[in-house]
Amino acid sequence: MHQAYGGVVPELASRDHIRRVVPLTRQVMAAAGHAMDDVDVVAYTRGPGLAGALLVGAGMACALGVALDRPLLGVHHLEGHLLSPFLSADPPCFPFVALLVSGGHTQLMRVDGVGQYTLLGETVDDAAGEAFDKSAKLMGLPYPGGPHLARLAEGGRSDAFELPRPMLHSGNLDFSFAGLKTAVRTHLVRLGWLDNAPALADPRHHALLSDLAASTQAAIVEVLLKKSLAALKHTGLKRLVVAGGVGANRLLRTQMDLACGRRGVRVHYPEMHLCTDNGAMIALAAAMRLQTGQASLSREPSFDVRPRWDLAAI
Ligand code: KG4
Ligand code: ZN
Repeated sequence: MHQAYGGVVPELASRDHIRRVVPLTRQVMAAAGHAMDDVDVVAYTRGPGLAGALLVGAGMACALGVALDRPLLGVHHLEGHLLSPFLSADPPCFPFVALLVSGGHTQLMRVDGVGQYTLLGETVDDAAGEAFDKSAKLMGLPYPGGPHLARLAEGGRSDAFELPRPMLHSGNLDFSFAGLKTAVRTHLVRLGWLDNAPALADPRHHALLSDLAASTQAAIVEVLLKKSLAALKHTGLKRLVVAGGVGANRLLRTQMDLACGRRGVRVHYPEMHLCTDNGAMIALAAAMRLQTGQASLSREPSFDVRPRWDLAAI
């Protein structure tokens, strides 16, 4: 559905969630071999994100809480991503630097424990996932563009096109990706390919388009890598967690492993299937909050979702 519109249309997304949430919940519980009665606490994503989609989740959680007579726990979406590597076979230990790279956020955090998050730097405009998605869209690739662009980049020359590395030398740990998308657009205009679907789909142009994808990916990955290394240096920490959808990117993983390996830094990732949005990480974040006595459980059905919610302030 999102592919047809080249992105997420909020109203369509939340209406679709309404249709799917009940059958999906039933399906997941059956696959897990659990009955509803086995549930101790109903955890749900309270924010940040699209208000309509958050309200569907909160509504479902409230209904389940009332029906099952169980407390509710609203979870921060990014805390789910941040803690998702704890579901892997080789979990990290605190403290660590976290690079959170999703479709909506690009942040570097210092993490000293559950609920102890200090923001070190973040994007001043587009998120890394957005840079992937918007560049991919300009190249005529389907939504979400990140994985498609990464696939197109395979075999492409990453030095074929000159692209900016925004804020690489800004002296702080902030990011900016809007200029990169503009530079990709400029290259496409020069080639006569912008909004030119037949030219983009022409197999004779594949190698050059692949070069542009490889150059774009390399620019995004280099900025993420260098800023992460700067954050490690700044904090003196020797552990890095890379989480969020863009954490599934192969080039990012290889380059991060290589550079960190040289510096004696351990890098932890969530398992591949837990990189992009999932419910398991929300359940885990809730469980870890409960375990550390940092959960404010609620018995009151509440639709108090937080479309904008600062992780460092929770
Ligand atoms: O964390 P996530 O699933 O959703 C948000 O919370 O935003 O991240 C989705 C983002 C999208 O921008 C998508 O294009 C990107 O992650 N993504 C990738 C890859 N897989 C997903 N970007 C680059 N390479 C990938 N392999
Ligand atoms: Zn996410």
